[in-house]
Amino acid sequence: MTFTLDKVVPWGRSFDEYVAMFSLSKRDLASSILGCGDGPASFNSILTKRGGTIISVDPLYRFSADEIKNRIHETYHEIIEQAHNNKDEFVWDKIRSVEEMGPIRMKAMEEFLSDYEAGRQEGRYLVADLPSLPFADQAFDLAICSHFLFLYSEQLSEDFHVQSIQELCRVSKKTRIFPLLELGSIKSRHLEPVIARIQEQGYKSEITSVPYEFQKGGNEMLTIIPIQQV
Ligand SMILES: C[S@@+](CC[C@H](N)C(=O)[O-])C[C@H]1O[C@@H](n2cnc3c(N)ncnc32)[C@H](O)[C@@H]1O
Repeated sequence: MTFTLDKVVPWGRSFDEYVAMFSLSKRDLASSILGCGDGPASFNSILTKRGGTIISVDPLYRFSADEIKNRIHETYHEIIEQAHNNKDEFVWDKIRSVEEMGPIRMKAMEEFLSDYEAGRQEGRYLVADLPSLPFADQAFDLAICSHFLFLYSEQLSEDFHVQSIQELCRVSKKTRIFPLLELGSIKSRHLEPVIARIQEQGYKSEITSVPYEFQKGGNEMLTIIPIQQV
């Protein structure tokens, strides 16, 4: 399938949201991290400024900063309108309203945009698409995947999820995925079958609560470790 900009609705979360979504400790933040499907999130930019080691991959990184910026501005109001229409699906505490959410997300995306061209040159933003990643085995200590796997369960098959998790575990010693809900704030239809299949293949997996909940009920992450790492 061709990845074209007119199909993309760029939306990126902040560094603090990443830390909470993945329960990242100081030790985690000091390890070598792969951010898979990071899109226009500010995690890579802020972590790099704080001395961390991270590579983000996303098919979005085929495009230039200006192309991504224009697409963010084209789609921003559509996303805000959708959030208004579906606001009962979300928990409005840390972010108190749709009106407050817009500037918070825009600030994260502006941070990303300000770092993007330099980060591309430094090899911190690479074009890659799951289920295939251009890295050696065990190249990273930790792979994190926010708001891609499980969230798009209607669009992405169970097999795609299993292959993507196998690939994340090939390139990384530990993988964390958040959230475990699909769109509509319902439990992903693939969660249980995918966990059963990866466990059969010898991966250890664990679901844990995290200090972040925006989609109602979305306060759990999945950690997967290849059995030889346990
Ligand atoms: C909803 S956004 C999440 C962005 C960011 N992780 C966050 O939480 O703010 C989903 C991202 O997945 C990316 N994506 C789409 N197909 C992908 C694939 N096959 N492999 C990796 N990422 C993909 C999209 O380009 C988009 O940036």
